[in-house]
Amino acid sequence: MTTYVVTGGAGFIGSNFVRLTLESRPQVAMVDIDLLTYAGNLENLADVPRDRHTFIRADITDPEAMRRAIPEGADLLINFAAETHVDRSILGPLAFVRTNVLGTQVLLDVAREKGVKRFIQISTDEVYGSLEPDEPPFTEDWPLDPSSPYAASKTSADLLVLASHHTYGQNVGITRCSNNYGPYQFPEKLIPLMISNAMEDKPLPVYGDGRQVRDWIFTDDHSRAILAVAENGQPGEVYNIGARSERYNIDVVREILRQLGKPESLIQFVTDRPGHDRRYAMDPTRLSTELGWHPAVDFEEGLGRTILWYQQHVDWWQRVRDGSYREFYDKWYGNR
Ligand code: NAD
Ligand code: TYD
Repeated sequence: MTTYVVTGGAGFIGSNFVRLTLESRPQVAMVDIDLLTYAGNLENLADVPRDRHTFIRADITDPEAMRRAIPEGADLLINFAAETHVDRSILGPLAFVRTNVLGTQVLLDVAREKGVKRFIQISTDEVYGSLEPDEPPFTEDWPLDPSSPYAASKTSADLLVLASHHTYGQNVGITRCSNNYGPYQFPEKLIPLMISNAMEDKPLPVYGDGRQVRDWIFTDDHSRAILAVAENGQPGEVYNIGARSERYNIDVVREILRQLGKPESLIQFVTDRPGHDRRYAMDPTRLSTELGWHPAVDFEEGLGRTILWYQQHVDWWQRVRDGSYREFYDKWYGNR
């Protein structure tokens, strides 16, 4: 058996990665470490094979807990665990520094102590800052220029990961991906928020003029890219991930309304996010040429699949919205 350790595997992308990897890698057993913050949900993992998936509730900032949880000589450690919502980082940056910066350093240190063979940091396009409309998409050597506390904490983590490679020769890799969408995304992020609000005929809050650009990728495509980098990427390298699907926010919101057959009168333009980045776009050429990865799902198809999933899983997002999803594991782990 090969052992892959993931952190944050009860979140949106981590749970997708766990599911896809267990499906496509029958020889892999996974250890999944997650604190189950508001963003972690064991219901996201309900369908993964139990015999090859060990779940441990623990905090990545706790070195002792990580020493107990991470098996000696594991083949890979992939760090998805993070505070991830830009709006929350504006309201309270400290939790972001704690988990995203301190937590990453704890994992790097324990991974070295335990002889983990390779460490993968799941990072974001937001480390590069904002692009002007006429600039080319970000390549890996674009200067780091984060804007929000979230982006600054992820950038700091990337620098610590690269420093561990440089200083200790630790085998690391970094993936930087654009905005994800797909099933199981927490309904505080743009696409699931707009889908669930529209389904309930609630207003759709669009920040500012809605003319910010994000570059969208379906989660399955992101997970396949991470697997390619984790298993075959060069030590010490950064790989950008993106599906070349730039869209204005307002166009994404209109397309959701169109696919749901709901009126555009639900759109409500609201006060802009402070320091709101105007445009992100990723150039994934290194990943495609070195590792042969290409996205399989185009935006309109992926959005259709995502909308259908939210229509077929109303229980899932209503339990997230009303907080009852937490009962599931409070029963297992106690009400901590
Ligand atoms: P998410 O918020 O859905 O999940 C984060 C998970 O981390 C949750 O399960 C949470 O319980 C866990 N966690 C948080 N703090 C923890 C701690 N201290 N110890 C252990 N577990 C903890 O996030 P996501 O959207 O799945 O993002 C996963 C990773 O991908 C993050 O590192 C994020 O920065 C990165 N990323 C996300 C996107 C995106 O569009 N969502 C894009 C690029 C990169
Ligand atoms: P978000 O999903 O928070 O991702 P990120 O900020 O990491 O890109 O937001 C995506 C875009 O949608 C971003 O430009 C902010 C905008 N947005 C809204 O207009 N309204 C909303 O309610 C939210 C959550 C986001």
